[in-house]
Amino acid sequence: MQLVHTIADLRAALAPYQSPAFVPTMGNLHDGHLDLVRQAQPLGDVTVSSIFVNRLQFAPHEDFDTYPRTLQADCARLEQAGCDIVFAPPEKELYPEPQGYKIQPPADLADILEGHFRPGFFIGVCTVVMKLFQCVFSEAKGPRYALFGKKDYQQQMVIRRMVQQFCMPIQVLAGETQRAADGLALSSRNGYLSESERAEAVQLSMSLRALARDALAAAGSLPEKREALEAQAMRALALRGWQPDYLTVRRRADLQPPRAEDALAPQSMVVLGAARLGRTRLIDNFEI
Ligand code: PAF
Repeated sequence: MQLVHTIADLRAALAPYQSPAFVPTMGNLHDGHLDLVRQAQPLGDVTVSSIFVNRLQFAPHEDFDTYPRTLQADCARLEQAGCDIVFAPPEKELYPEPQGYKIQPPADLADILEGHFRPGFFIGVCTVVMKLFQCVFSEAKGPRYALFGKKDYQQQMVIRRMVQQFCMPIQVLAGETQRAADGLALSSRNGYLSESERAEAVQLSMSLRALARDALAAAGSLPEKREALEAQAMRALALRGWQPDYLTVRRRADLQPPRAEDALAPQSMVVLGAARLGRTRLIDNFEI
């Protein structure tokens, strides 16, 4: 496995290949990331991962400074998972000057849910992903693949639409969320949890499963009942000491509230949630 830090070295390392399969990350890797790398392997003729903590997608009060940087351990795990090239640029390599040009994703998809509670988050994500795609795919001649985890459900939708609207010849694939034995979705931020918070953390996924059951039971009357069901789910978490941002039932197609016909159609909805436990903000979702 080759570790490169500059765009020039990355392009040189990729020169012999036609068809990269790419897994962008911010490092501090867990089995969810490694699962994406393993899925990437048979797709292209070279498997590439990036490790870059992207300042642009963090608000000033968020955890950019404390986000765990574990490059050595990440590289060992990537090598074991079969990654061929790791691109770990220093900040000045990707942002040699203040990033004036930015990707503004559409409000209907990107200003709701995560985008509502983390304004500017998807501008930062789309901008760095666009730059990473330029670095990884610019010389490719064959099919190009990019893989994202479904735990960041809205993120993979926003990126998929960006790729479509900019006519980028890249297949965006989404990997299933990997979970701990108790059901907690794997996340780099789980490491922030204290022992007691870690034991409690699974309640977010349990609340979302309960909301999913209630939504399915409501069937065609979901549009009238949805807000009350969501409020009940959020209240239950708040009573356990959480600060929920949202727990909600949405259409898979566009993350808008389901209409009666969506609620009756199979595999058309997703429940999504974000909530803070102590100082840690966790997100999760289930397709239903
Ligand atoms: O999901 C992440 O880790 C990040 O948002 C991404 C896609 C690597 C962009 O910084």
